[in-house]
Amino acid sequence: MASMNVQAWFMGDSDADQRRKHHCNPPEYVDEEYIGKHGIKFWKVNPDDYENDATYNKVRADRGYNYEDEITITKEKLPNYEEKVNWIYYLHLHLDEEIRFCLDGSGYFDFRDFKERWVRMKFTKGLFFVLPAGIYHRFTLDTNNYVKAKRLFVGEPVWTPYNRPADEKPQRATFLESIKHLTED
Ligand code: LAC
Ligand code: NI
Repeated sequence: MASMNVQAWFMGDSDADQRRKHHCNPPEYVDEEYIGKHGIKFWKVNPDDYENDATYNKVRADRGYNYEDEITITKEKLPNYEEKVNWIYYLHLHLDEEIRFCLDGSGYFDFRDFKERWVRMKFTKGLFFVLPAGIYHRFTLDTNNYVKAKRLFVGEPVWTPYNRPADEKPQRATFLESIKHLTED
C-alpha cells in the first residue's frame, strides 16, 4: 500500500494560537515509523476519487469500516462551532478507534507519545488514518480554518470523548500495554 510521508514533529511549549505549527526551536521532526510504534496507522488515498481508490476500499473491507459520514469544520458550516472546536482541542481518548480521512483543507492531530511528549501530526488532503482506542489526542484547525473529512466506524458510530484523566478505562490499559515495549527498549 502507498505510504504517505506524514509530517509530524515534537511540539514546543509556546502557548501561542493553537492553529500555528508549534515547532520546537530548532524543529524536531518524527518519522512514520515512530508514529506507527504508537499504534497509529495511515495510508495515502486519492481524495478526489476515493470511491475507486484500491487502498481506501481494501482498508475499509479488511477492518470492517461499514459506517461513514462527512464533517466540515468551518465557522459557517459547523453548528456550535466555538464549543466543538474547544472540546476537540481538549485532550481526550475514545473507547474505539478514531478513523479519519481528509478530503480537503487541513488541521493538526496532536497525541501524547510514550514519554508524554506532544507530537503534532499534519492532517492533510489524502491522509487516511486510524488512532487506536485509548490514546490521548486532540485536534485543531490550522490557520486556514477549514477541513473537510470523512469519519468512519465499525457499526453504529460512537464519538464520545473521555477527557483526561480517563485512565480507568480498560482501553487505556490495553493501549498502554501495546506501547510498553517502547519504554523497555
Ligand atoms: C474527535 C477528534 C477530533 O474526537 O479527536 O472527533
Ligand atoms: Ni477524538
